[in-house]
Amino acid sequence: MFVSKLSRRVGVWILKELPRGKSAVINRAGCAQRPYSQYLLPLFEQNTETKLFQEAIFQKPHHFSTTTADNASEETISVTFVDKDGEEKHIKVPVGMSMLEAAHENDIELEGACEGSLACSTCHLIVMDMEQYNKLEDPTDEENDMLDLAFGLSETSRLGCQVIAKPELDGIRLAIPAATRNFAVDGYVPKPH
Ligand code: FES
Repeated sequence: MFVSKLSRRVGVWILKELPRGKSAVINRAGCAQRPYSQYLLPLFEQNTETKLFQEAIFQKPHHFSTTTADNASEETISVTFVDKDGEEKHIKVPVGMSMLEAAHENDIELEGACEGSLACSTCHLIVMDMEQYNKLEDPTDEENDMLDLAFGLSETSRLGCQVIAKPELDGIRLAIPAATRNFAVDGYVPKPH
C-alpha cells in the first residue's frame, strides 16, 4: 500500500516536472533524463581549443594576402643619384634606410669614411630640388659642423648618412659632389652601430 502510494507520488512529480525541461526524456527505468546534448554542450563549450578554432573559422575576419609580413614592411621610395659626370642611377630605397647605406648597397660611389658617425664629411650630398630639401629634418649641430668642412658646400647640402628615406622623399634627386674632403683623423675607427 505504502509502496504503491509512493510510486504514484513519484509518477505525479515526474509528470509535473516534464514540461519544465522541454527536452527531457524518460528512460526505460522510468527516470527523467536530460538528453545527451545537454551534457555534451557544456563540455563542447568549455573546450578552449575548440572555442579558438570556432572563433578563427567563424568569427574573426579573414585577411587573405599574397604578401608576407616582411614584404609588407618593405616600403620603398625612388631615389636618383647623379654622379660628378652627370650619370644618373635610379634605385629603390627602403623607408628608414640612410642614403649612405642605400648608395653602398647599390654600388654607388659615395664615401662614408666614418660609417655614419658624424665624424667626417665624405658622405656629402647635394639635394637637387629645394622642395625636397625642405622636406628633410633640420640638420643637427653636429651635422652642420661637419658640413662646414665639406668640399663644394651648397645651400642644399646634407650628409648622406643623415638623410633617411621616408615616403615624402619619393623621387628625390641627389648629386654626388666632384670631390670630398676627409677630415677624419688618421686611424679613426668607426664606432659599431
Ligand atoms: Fe661620416 Fe656621414 S659618413 S659623416
